[in-house]
Amino acid sequence: MKIDGQPYRTIFPEPGGEAVLVIDQTRLPFAFEIRRLATVEEAAEAIRTMVVRGAPLIGVTAAYGLALGLRQDPSDTGLERAVAMLAATRPTAVNLRWALDRLSASLRPLPPDARAGHAFAEAGRVAEEDVANCQAIGEHGAQLIARAAAAKGGRVNVLTHCNAGWLATVDWGTALAPIYVAHDAGIPVHVYVDETRPRNQGAALTAFELNAHGVPHTVIADNAGGHLMQHGAVDLCIVGSDRTTSTGDVCNKIGTYLKALAAHDNGVPFYAALPVSTIDWTLTDGVAQIPIEERDAREVTHLTGRTDEGGFATVAVVSPGSPVANPAFDVTPARLVTGLITERGVGAASAEGLLTLYPERRAAA
Ligand code: MRU
Repeated sequence: MKIDGQPYRTIFPEPGGEAVLVIDQTRLPFAFEIRRLATVEEAAEAIRTMVVRGAPLIGVTAAYGLALGLRQDPSDTGLERAVAMLAATRPTAVNLRWALDRLSASLRPLPPDARAGHAFAEAGRVAEEDVANCQAIGEHGAQLIARAAAAKGGRVNVLTHCNAGWLATVDWGTALAPIYVAHDAGIPVHVYVDETRPRNQGAALTAFELNAHGVPHTVIADNAGGHLMQHGAVDLCIVGSDRTTSTGDVCNKIGTYLKALAAHDNGVPFYAALPVSTIDWTLTDGVAQIPIEERDAREVTHLTGRTDEGGFATVAVVSPGSPVANPAFDVTPARLVTGLITERGVGAASAEGLLTLYPERRAAA
């Protein structure tokens, strides 16, 4: 995607290959800054502090982080240490574990001096696959938007939650990819952007992306979606996913479940868009089995933003001393999900729906 006419990916190797460069998402939307990650420690810290975030991008950063770690120490101990450090950063998005498993399986049999080079090449392949998968998700999902536009004879209003755009992946995004493809094809589409407290990924990142691409959108408070759906203002919901079970339960940013309930109550189709790396084939019950990240209370008690004078300020917004909880994700049961938009096409949110899209998994099921 382009920023001021310049094409960018969220992560890319530094020319010369000494380090990996990422867009610092903690600085957006007010400052566009590139950060350099030269060690596995720096890569792990970037994931933990959400300099990079979004399930697919976390996976790709972990892959590059492992490569950086192997350059520091290619021994078996170095490999296990780097994997453990990266795996401990964030617990919910399965793409992280998926990328580490994929790389370490191919790295372990190699002699130590061949590992770093192999890991960088494999991390590059993981990144390229993510771009191709997200673009395919965009093409499949855009057909849903096109059909809705044709049925309505006018502009399609899509509600999305959090940021599942190109900033959450390497390029294109998951939930936003269909919107970009539809918009570029001239299909009239407008996006309701949930602000997504506590970290405001919708207000800060999704709105930034849609602005940069010229997609019509409106930022709304998290509590507004149900009201808009009751009044026919939303034609379609499309969200991303951090982990989708083999039965089609969708774990995504906290608040997604409430939007799915409102959509169900109002007959609004509710889709989750995700690449294969987000599917956890080992799980069958998302509510019972997916680990939900609990983040720092300070994300709830304080807000940081730009002042009218152009500086930055952090202010407290919660009554001092009140206990705070900050679960970062929730699970939307498959029964509330109209369909899953994947790189293979749109399927039912069910075990059979996923196996129809990924028939090679039938043997393991
Ligand atoms: O905590 P975050 O910002 O990493 O959460 C991101 C989300 O919940 C996204 O919706 C999800 O990762 C899908 S990304 C394509």
